[in-house]
Amino acid sequence: QVIRLTDYRPTDFQLATVDMRVQLFAEHADVLTVLQLERRAGAPATADLVLDGDELALVSLALDGTPVDPSQYDATPQGLTIRGLPESGSFTLAIETRLQPQLNTQLMGLYRSGGVWCTQCEAEGFRRITYFLDRPDVLATYRVRVEADKAEAPVLLSNGNPAEHGLLDGGRHFAVWDDPFPKPSYLFALVAGDLDRLGDHFTTMSGRRVALDIYTEKGRAHEALYAMDALKRSMVWDEQRFGREYDLDVFSIVAISDFNMGAMENKGLNVFNHKYVLLDSETATDGDYAGVETVIAHEYFHNWTGNRITCRDWFQLCLKEGLTVYRDQEFSADERSAAVKRIASVRGLTAHQFPEDQGPLQHPVRPSEYREISNFYTATIYDKGAELVRMIATIVGQAGFRAGMDLYFARHDGDAATIEDFLACFVEATGADLTQFALWYSQAGTPVLKVEERFDADRGELTLTLGQHLAQGPAGTGTLPMHIPVRFGLVGANGQDLVPAPRDGAPVEGDVIHLRDAETTIVFEGLGERPYLSILRDFSAAVALRTSQRERDRLALARLDGNPFNRWRALSDLVGEALQAATIDARGGNPVRLNPAIAEALIATALDETLEPALRAQALSLPSEADIARLLGENVDPDAIHIARDAVVTAIGRQGEKRFAPLFAGLARQGAFSPDADSAGRRALASVLLDFLLAASGTPDRAVQQFRTADNMTEQFAALTMLCHRFPEDDATRDALAAFYSRFETNALVIDKWFSLQATVPSPSALATVRALTAHPAFRLANPNRARALIGAFAAGNQIGFNRADGAGYAFVAEMIQALDELNPQVAARIATAFRSWRCFDSGRREKARAALAQLSEMKGLSTDVKDIVERSLR
Ligand code: ARG
Ligand code: ZN
Repeated sequence: QVIRLTDYRPTDFQLATVDMRVQLFAEHADVLTVLQLERRAGAPATADLVLDGDELALVSLALDGTPVDPSQYDATPQGLTIRGLPESGSFTLAIETRLQPQLNTQLMGLYRSGGVWCTQCEAEGFRRITYFLDRPDVLATYRVRVEADKAEAPVLLSNGNPAEHGLLDGGRHFAVWDDPFPKPSYLFALVAGDLDRLGDHFTTMSGRRVALDIYTEKGRAHEALYAMDALKRSMVWDEQRFGREYDLDVFSIVAISDFNMGAMENKGLNVFNHKYVLLDSETATDGDYAGVETVIAHEYFHNWTGNRITCRDWFQLCLKEGLTVYRDQEFSADERSAAVKRIASVRGLTAHQFPEDQGPLQHPVRPSEYREISNFYTATIYDKGAELVRMIATIVGQAGFRAGMDLYFARHDGDAATIEDFLACFVEATGADLTQFALWYSQAGTPVLKVEERFDADRGELTLTLGQHLAQGPAGTGTLPMHIPVRFGLVGANGQDLVPAPRDGAPVEGDVIHLRDAETTIVFEGLGERPYLSILRDFSAAVALRTSQRERDRLALARLDGNPFNRWRALSDLVGEALQAATIDARGGNPVRLNPAIAEALIATALDETLEPALRAQALSLPSEADIARLLGENVDPDAIHIARDAVVTAIGRQGEKRFAPLFAGLARQGAFSPDADSAGRRALASVLLDFLLAASGTPDRAVQQFRTADNMTEQFAALTMLCHRFPEDDATRDALAAFYSRFETNALVIDKWFSLQATVPSPSALATVRALTAHPAFRLANPNRARALIGAFAAGNQIGFNRADGAGYAFVAEMIQALDELNPQVAARIATAFRSWRCFDSGRREKARAALAQLSEMKGLSTDVKDIVERSLR
């Protein structure tokens, strides 16, 4: 069944309050929900009330305290329809359902994880708890009473502020929670269990004291210290940057080990995948620290962008997600290094969102139809959605952006809003015209931005021709020219930006070209020298850039550009082209060549002490094998890519060896470990250098040494990764893997790393390893992190293993998807998206992938989630 944006209409009944009593027992849970409802003015007097359900069993139903006659309603697992309800005035419905949380392997609704009861309701999980108007435009205040055995669940939590608690007979107890802020059902949460607590507090800008609590499994509260610190920094930042203050007396986070996604912003009670809460330096990498900081901030920022202002319907998902990703990116940029953060975000976008936008799973940032909303929590909605917000900020300017946001918060607080509502705030606050810009929300695909330059030395004029082209893709959503803000600079020979003097009437404002037409020509006058064109600075629009810039201009920009992002990109483009050429060499069976000038530019960047180490590390991290496949675009042979990339790394390593070695040695830390961004940047640089050194030397010695002596997970895991990826057959690697396992056996998050590392070994034999690991005693398909660590990492992170020419990688993953689908359709569907780029490979692989998908699509009993992904992938 397809849901369409154009079918939106409000409910016939309005909901005011929800009163719940949830009684938790070992084998079941009893849920009593009392709804206060009223027929909406203007709704048909005879309209039935149709409530959503999912695998529900109705125990009883009462209207204003009197049991409803069975002739007046139909209850099925999927819904409850009630006829003959009052034409006017408010009434109450009391609905009792009985659940079996301990059998809920989908991890949507109420379930148990490691003995803890918890909930996940976004997008449509609340209907697995009770019959409900389970849609985001139905807002109500909730009062929730939780009851459980006191020994088994000393902690009882729900949304809002604590109201009452007390003892009950038989060793049981209860707690009542009151949430004064009207919210949609997807923000409901309940947690009960025997948990440890890390407590702290925060004083808001108006002087209110908020209790901050992070709950973890027993004995691990101290691992939440960094998360708590990140939370407090997020609270300060949102006050300072957006004037947003927290609004309840408590803010709690619960870390859960079985969780379908990263985390969830339930009002006042965030529930997290424990991966984004728990860490210390012995068990977590710098990347994990950055991830915790980002996700803690993201969920906290949702309190305003998502909770106080929510979405009218799920088509507007980017209204909260794109905006909140933008906010968490800005937070990280302010807390760490803005340039490094921007590079990392853009690398993420091009690696994950571009293939989605350019393949069969393409959809607009605001889709107009869906079959299964869970499949739309995508890189397009989140990350391209964030890019659109960033483009708005570029178009209206920072002050205009803040004014528009202020208006949005003031006008829509308490609303279930739309993208139109959001855009209108910027239009009204700044006078900007965003009519054409709005096409970005409805047209799918990555626009190609083509830039040609011509310099007339006699006249001192630089002529730029900018063209945009959007191909009609499988989404079929149109190809009209869009408003593309192109930030730029004209770089002089000394590295200083020249002040551009565009000819009158050119669509240029300061350092931004506003491209609105399919093609525009702009002339800059009065130039005494030919400048280097630094275009699309900071990646000011989500486009695929094509320039005909000469290699020596790019080399100059890699050295001179005052915009660190573009400086990085100049180098990255050079290397990307070299890697494509190398792949063509390798495929033809020819020796792989690399222009020594490019290697020299990389080496010079590595040694440039004026650049922060994290930035140098980014510059030296070459495009991945998947990135190269995407750049090549079609008829891709992943084996040739692997050979070529390895040869290029070796060539750079050999050319730089003598200079890399002392630099690497000089980065060794003195004193205690610290996870701060500068220290992490030094470790990142050391780590890429080590990889070049290993490639050049051909021996694992340096990595073995680092693996043995490292006192932190970042360095230890980097060494282990290089051992596995470069020397998979070496005894030293086998020993290191075994030592790592026995040291961290009891820490699930570290063991996830152990699984995914082996899944990503770039070798056709990885398949046999992965298959064997599915029988490992620590492998559990039902645990989402573990399933993703092994199967997900193999499918999405092992180019040559998954895309084996014989198709065995595809067949294996399809088989695992089918097995996982019976337990957890959402996670199975997510893993299935790894097939999305199947059309870019050579014809042999294409046919094998198509066959695996076709076979999967014909499996009986497949969930809507997986069916939707598989069928769209085949279109
Ligand atoms: N709203 C959550 C977040 O981004 C994620 C919820 C994901 N839901 C899903 N069905 N995949 O913070
Ligand atoms: Zn979010």
